[in-house]
Amino acid sequence: MTTVQQSLRAANKVLAAADIPDGPRDARRLMAAALNTRPDRITLCLNNALDAAEEKAFFAKVDDRSKGRPVSHLVGGRDFYDRWFFVNEDVLDPRPETEMLVQVALSARFGDVLDLGTGSGAILVTLLAARPTATGVGTDISQAALRVAARNAAAHDVAARAAFRVSDWYARVEGAFDLIVANPPYIAADEMDGLQPDVRLYEPRIALTDEADGLTAYRKIVAGAPTHLRAGGQLMVEIGPTQAAAVTHMMSKAGFERVKVHPDLDGRDRVVCGQWPENADQNRG
Ligand SMILES: C[S@@+](CC[C@H](N)C(=O)[O-])C[C@H]1O[C@@H](n2cnc3c(N)ncnc32)[C@H](O)[C@@H]1O
Repeated sequence: MTTVQQSLRAANKVLAAADIPDGPRDARRLMAAALNTRPDRITLCLNNALDAAEEKAFFAKVDDRSKGRPVSHLVGGRDFYDRWFFVNEDVLDPRPETEMLVQVALSARFGDVLDLGTGSGAILVTLLAARPTATGVGTDISQAALRVAARNAAAHDVAARAAFRVSDWYARVEGAFDLIVANPPYIAADEMDGLQPDVRLYEPRIALTDEADGLTAYRKIVAGAPTHLRAGGQLMVEIGPTQAAAVTHMMSKAGFERVKVHPDLDGRDRVVCGQWPENADQNRG
C-alpha cells in the first residue's frame, strides 16, 4: 500500500531529477487531479492509501511532467481568477500575472469589451462573468484557439454575451467599444531560446512571439484602437516587464490620455492603460 504522502515524495524526486522548477507544487496539482479533488485539499488526504489505478494514473502524469509537458495539459486546464479554464496545446496557458490585467479592467466602467488575441478566452470570459450585463467580442488569428475560448465561455455561462471571430487584430472587427484589452505575443524572437522547455515546446509559438522585437502587436493594437474605442473608452494591454517605456510612449504619441503603468504582484511592470479622449468624437469631426 502506498500513501498519498509517499507518492508525493517519490514524485518530488522524479521532478527534481528532471530539473522541473516548483516540482512539489506540480506534484500536488497532479495528485489532486488523480484523486479528483483540489490541490488545497491534498494535505487532508496525506495518509490515505492510493489504489492501484490512482497510483498508475498519477505516476504516468509525473513521468509526462518530467519530460516538460505543462501541468495544465495533463490535468485539462487551470485556475484563472478563481475560475477553472479548459486549456490545451492550441492556446497559451493563462498566466497568474494576466490576472492583473483583469483586475485593472474591472476597475473601469464598460458595457462592451473587445479582447484581442483572446486565446483560451480567460480574460474575456472572466470580465463578462464579473459584469453580468456586459457583452464582448474575442478575436484570435487561430481558429483552434477560438474553439477553446467558446468552450470556456459556455462553461462559465457567458456564451450568449460573447462573440468570437477569427481576425488579424482588428481586420474583422466592426464597431466601437468602451474597453479594449489585449495580452499579445510580446517575447522577442531572440529571447525564445531562453524560455523554459514547457513554454517553448508545448505552447503555440504564435501566442508567444512576434518573431521580431516583441513590440509588433502593440504597434498594431495602439494604431487601430482609436477607430474601435468610444470617446472616453480605455485601452489596456499586458506587457513584458521591460516594455513599459516603449508602450507608454506609443500610446501617448497616438493621443491617449492618462497613460499609466500598473505593476504585477511581484512589482514588475505588467499592464499599460490609457484613455481615449472624452472629446475624441468632436475632434474626429
Ligand atoms: C499571449 S497569448 C494570450 C492569450 C490569452 N489572451 C491570455 O491572456 O491567456 C496571445 C494570443 O494572440 C493571438 N495572436 C497572435 N497573433 C495574432 C494576430 N495577428 N491577430 C490576432 N490574434 C493573434 C495568439 O493566437 C494568442 O492566442
